Amino acid sequence: MRDIDLLVVGEINPDVVVTDPDPVPVFGQAERLVEGIRLTIGSSSAITACGAARLGLRVAMVGVVGDDALGRFTLDALASRGVDVSACRVAAGRPTGVSVVLGNGRDRAILTAPGTIPDTRASDVPAGLLARARHVHVGSFFLQPGLAADLPALFRAARDGGATTSLDPNWDPSGAWDGGFAAALGETDIVLPNEAEARRLAATDDVETAARVLAADGRTAVVKLGALGALAVSGGSLVRAAAREVDAVDTTGAGDSFDAGFLAARLDGRPVEDALAFAVACGSLSTRAAGGTDGQPIRDEVEGWLREGRA
Ligand SMILES: Nc1ncnc2c1ncn2[C@@H]1O[C@H](COP(=O)(O)OP(=O)(O)O)[C@@H](O)[C@H]1O
Ligand SMILES: [Mg+2]
Repeated sequence: MRDIDLLVVGEINPDVVVTDPDPVPVFGQAERLVEGIRLTIGSSSAITACGAARLGLRVAMVGVVGDDALGRFTLDALASRGVDVSACRVAAGRPTGVSVVLGNGRDRAILTAPGTIPDTRASDVPAGLLARARHVHVGSFFLQPGLAADLPALFRAARDGGATTSLDPNWDPSGAWDGGFAAALGETDIVLPNEAEARRLAATDDVETAARVLAADGRTAVVKLGALGALAVSGGSLVRAAAREVDAVDTTGAGDSFDAGFLAARLDGRPVEDALAFAVACGSLSTRAAGGTDGQPIRDEVEGWLREGRA
């Protein structure tokens, strides 16, 4: 019984978002007042799960939080957005991972305490849950070395069961850009890096070449280009989708909301070119509000946005 459209396996952590025209801390025990500080859903995997639920997909998530207020906040926030978190694990004695994001509207600085982020393993995914999913997605490959090592087998099992798989590598803070990525890629149907990540993963400066390298073995490679939109290579052809201008308030989670849009459109059976335009709209619309999830669109908003762009 395939009653889950999207199973997301990965990090679940909140962001503490500090907003101010000049949110820079001053040492020497100085206290500065800032415009605002909010607790929001953070992490690539959790933001993608929320974006997909917002688009109407049936979404379940597997990940680990600590037995603390930050973990409870994040699981509650996911559940209230319609994500099934019943398979998530609460690790006693471990702190939930958390990021402090300092943003001035144009740029961001991020401090992350990993906490439970690297704790998730493939063994956290119940076989029964895997069998119910049409598609399995993993975000933040390089922040989760345990899960990364398990990924070839997990994705192989998902595919053997008839599901498709996708991977958003996100940034590698170690700078090594390896961590067994090639082996995981070998079991991935859709890979979703941004431009900077694609260049490093494919070891080439040319983004189109990078997409073609990542699309080897019949995979679909989608590269996010920020305000320029995105491009995709699939079945040997390259397609592009431009982004419409948007009054971006905060681009946190834009790439993760884009992922949700691309996966939703592909699961609907739309061709890659249409899915790319749909995904760009989802990424762009997500920048309307601060934080990763508050600006995420419902389907009607995406369709309306695309219609306005054609008019
Ligand atoms: N300034 C922007 N204007 C319009 N769309 C944007 C902007 N920034 C991001 N997006 C949308 O979000 C998508 C993902 O953003 P990007 O920054 O490339 O990914 P990531 O968040 O993974 O780094 C883009 O493909 C685009 O659709
Ligand atoms: Mg990203």
